Amino acid sequence: MKVLLTGANGQLGHCFKDIFPSDWQLLATDSLQLDITDGLAVNNFVALHRPDAIVNAAAYTAVDKAEDEYELAYKVNAIGPKNLAIAAKKYHAKLVHVSTDYVFDGTKSSPYLENDLTNPVNVYGETKLAGELSVLDNYSSTIVIRTSWVFSEYGNNFVKTMLKLSQTRPELTIIDDQLGCPTYAGDIAKTILEMLMNDIQGGIYHYCGNESTSWFLFGQKIFDIALDQNLLFQVPVISPINSQSFPSKAKRPLYSVMSMDKIKKYNLSGSNWEEQLISCISKIRSI
Ligand SMILES: NC(=O)c1ccc[n+]([C@@H]2O[C@H](COP(=O)([O-])OP(=O)(O)OC[C@H]3O[C@@H](n4cnc5c(N)ncnc54)[C@H](OP(=O)(O)O)[C@@H]3O)[C@@H](O)[C@H]2O)c1
Repeated sequence: MKVLLTGANGQLGHCFKDIFPSDWQLLATDSLQLDITDGLAVNNFVALHRPDAIVNAAAYTAVDKAEDEYELAYKVNAIGPKNLAIAAKKYHAKLVHVSTDYVFDGTKSSPYLENDLTNPVNVYGETKLAGELSVLDNYSSTIVIRTSWVFSEYGNNFVKTMLKLSQTRPELTIIDDQLGCPTYAGDIAKTILEMLMNDIQGGIYHYCGNESTSWFLFGQKIFDIALDQNLLFQVPVISPINSQSFPSKAKRPLYSVMSMDKIKKYNLSGSNWEEQLISCISKIRSI
């Protein structure tokens, strides 16, 4: 199978390249090689290479910055996916697009289902929702995977931020009233490959960690593992804080746990994030 990967230098992109089957053909592109916001470039690339599948790992992911950069975020998160959907449909390629738990407002108290009402509370979520709608409107066979709290040994994420902060800060406050499911980017990559291999039908699927937690408890786990692996010899004193006492430019949903009942029907299992966190920190240690 020939697969076009966009956003190849992001967390998911890197993990996808790491586990890509050696007997398949990968066309891995970063934003310089293929800017997904350029409709003509996308069309020409797909027309020339004729991939069997397109995996869109490209996105504008700076949640706070997006509040000031609506147009750019919209271009990358909504127009880009639309360009890919149009080209995928025209040249008969499967399309897998990745979205986020931030399409929900977080007011539910039980895991979000794929068809629950969306109501993003920030610009990032709004533009990602527009992306979901644009791919499904233009190519209804698109697989949209909503995921959450992504971490890996690559790029920027909560795990790396905590480890970095621990080097200069003896004390840290971490938000304790936002609940979600951490997800290892390598598990998302593996799931995408399995979905392509099994020719799963289009639509929205939730995929995330199989246990929910708060940022505070996630942070605590990171420091426990880092101590265990001798990555840190001293960890900061951490205290829980609520979202109201920790103002950020973009509002975040308080509850973004997603149900994986739908994807589990295809024998796909959620991200065992606690186990993956141990190996991720050991990879960060070796880097
Ligand atoms: N990170 C999270 O916690 C999280 C949570 C829920 C859902 N998600 C979703 O999961 C997916 C993967 O996220 P991630 O964490 O791997 O993101 P990431 O590390 O921020 O990577 C995104 C990549 O997109 C590329 N990109 C940006 N604009 C582009 C453009 N116009 N054309 C082509 N590529 C472009 C960036 O490349 P340049 O650096 O070259 O611009 C970057 O390498 C995204 O759809 C994201 O919305 C992420």
